[in-house]
Order: sequence, then structure tokens, then C-alpha cells
Amino acid sequence: MPDLDQYIQDSKAAIDQALMESLPPAGSSRVADAMRYSVEAGGKRLRPLLCLATAQVLGAEQKTVIDVACALEMVHTYSLMHDDLPAMDDSDLRRGKASCHAVFGEAMAILAGDALLTLAFEIISVYGQEEQQATKAVRIAYELAAAAGVKGMIGGQELDLLAEGKNLTLVEVEEIAARKTGALFSAAVRCGALAAGAGQSELEVLSNFAHLTGKAYQIVDDLLDSKATAAELGKPVSADLKKAKATLPALLGAEAAQARADQLYRQATKELQKLITDAGLLQLLAHRLIYRDK
Ligand code: IPE
Ligand code: IPE
Ligand code: MG
Ligand code: MG
Ligand code: MG
Repeated sequence: MPDLDQYIQDSKAAIDQALMESLPPAGSSRVADAMRYSVEAGGKRLRPLLCLATAQVLGAEQKTVIDVACALEMVHTYSLMHDDLPAMDDSDLRRGKASCHAVFGEAMAILAGDALLTLAFEIISVYGQEEQQATKAVRIAYELAAAAGVKGMIGGQELDLLAEGKNLTLVEVEEIAARKTGALFSAAVRCGALAAGAGQSELEVLSNFAHLTGKAYQIVDDLLDSKATAAELGKPVSADLKKAKATLPALLGAEAAQARADQLYRQATKELQKLITDAGLLQLLAHRLIYRDK
């Protein structure tokens, strides 16, 4: 197994190159520039990394999955652009730069987000034009659409907004995390697994792993909101406090929320042990993204 830092560095370089090639050319329109601006701003590329790592664990070559990985990042970046809009979290800093709407205006940020979402499905359709990938592409498009939609991420974002200033139960708060973040994490590994030709039992184990990891990831994001600095995160801090967001740290306190993230990580790694293939890479990746301080 490669060294994790080296794996992340190499994979990110491949993801970034493929993303730049898939985006409309710079200067071709204002919306195109807004799309490129938000994608080029960077980010950790966790969803495409999870997609590629899953495919690698299952023995697929990176070049057969890279387009699918890009589609995941496009959906994620679009979700952040809209999440930052004044009508939602009203945040003017993202990935260490001014948020898309702060630079291009709200209308362009909405359109650029919409355009990234649709481009994701265009890319998957093109991937499916290779004859032996046509069936896989239909399933991958289904996974991504279902995870990003009203039953998944959009539904989670709705609950998140409606919960502002309210007292939710633990179950309700975890449902927000599961849907707004867990769903796309799960789609990332499921899409990587489908591209690699995984069977039903592998898919189930991998989606359980990713759901648990995604939930833990959101809890850690909520913890960092009051622990890290804006310079470290590349986005404003105390933003959840300001909006009275219903988060696990707000409900239980930081210590108990961290304990829950730890428990979710342990459950996630247990899932991986059910695979017959060596999933060490996914375990290392999950550890890296849950036990981060920025
Ligand atoms: C931010 O996602 C939104 C959450 C789900 C917590 P990331 O923390 O993956 O953001 P980037 O992609 O690295 O900017
Ligand atoms: C956003 O969650 C999750 C999405 C689906 C975009 P947050 O609102 O906590 O993400 P940040 O903190 O702004 O990155
Ligand atoms: Mg939000
Ligand atoms: Mg936000
Ligand atoms: Mg947050």
C-alpha cells in the first residue's frame, strides 16, 4: 500500500487535472469563470479521493474512475456555492478565498452551481458512451442523483435550515448530518465501487462505511467551527453559533460530540473488516479526515 500522504498528493493532482479539463474554458462566459473559480479554489477533494480509493481497493485502474470522481467533486462544490449564499448560511469566505457570490454576484453563483450540477451528469453520460461502461453509467447516475437530491443532501440542507434556532433531539441532529453529508460520502464510495464492478454485498458494506464516516466528518466540521481559525479552515468560524445551527456539539457539548465521532469511526472501520479485499487505504483515509484539526 502506498504512503497515505503520497497517495493523496498523487490522486489530488490527477483529480485537479481532470477537473480543469472538464470545466468550460476560462473566459468563455461569466458563469464559466465562476465555476472555475470555485473549483480551482481547492478544497480537500475528499469525495473524489474516497471514490478513487474505493476503486483502488477493489482493483480498478484510476483512469477508469477519474471522470466519476470529478462528477462527485462538481456536485460537492456546487453544494458549497449554494450553501454560502445569503439565503442559506450567508458566508463570504470559502476555500480561503471570497465566496463565489461575493465575487461574481448571487445570480452568477446560483447559475454556476446549477451548471456544475448538470455538468456532473453530462460527464457521467459521456463516461457511459464507452460501450462496456453504459450500464455502469446509468447506475452511477442514479446513485449520485439520489444522494444529492431531496432524499439525501438537499433534504439534509432543508432540515439544517429549518432547524436554525430550534432544539432538536440527538436523532434529529444526526439525521441532518447523515443526509447533508453522509449521503454524498456514501455516493462517492458506491460510485467508485460500481465503476470498479463491485457486487451487492461489497456495495452494502462500503456504503455503511461511508455513511458512518460522513456523519463523523460533519460532527468534526461542527466541532472545528468553534475550535479552529478561519485561516486554518479557509471559511469563517463560529458560523454555526451565529446562525444557531442545530449541531451535535451545540446539543451535547464538544467532548460528547467528539466521543460520538470516535464511536462512528470505530463502527466505520468495523464495516471495512467485512470485506475480503484489503481496505487499509480506506481506513487510513477515514482516519485522516475524521482526526483532522483543520
Ligand atoms: C464542507 O466540505 C462541507 C461539509 C460537508 C462539512 P469539505 O470540508 O469537504 O470542504 P472542501 O471540499 O474541503 O472545501
Ligand atoms: C454543508 O454543511 C453541507 C453541504 C451539503 C454543503 P455546512 O454548512 O456545515 O458546511 P460549511 O461549514 O459551510 O463548509
Ligand atoms: Mg450549511
Ligand atoms: Mg455552511
Ligand atoms: Mg460547517
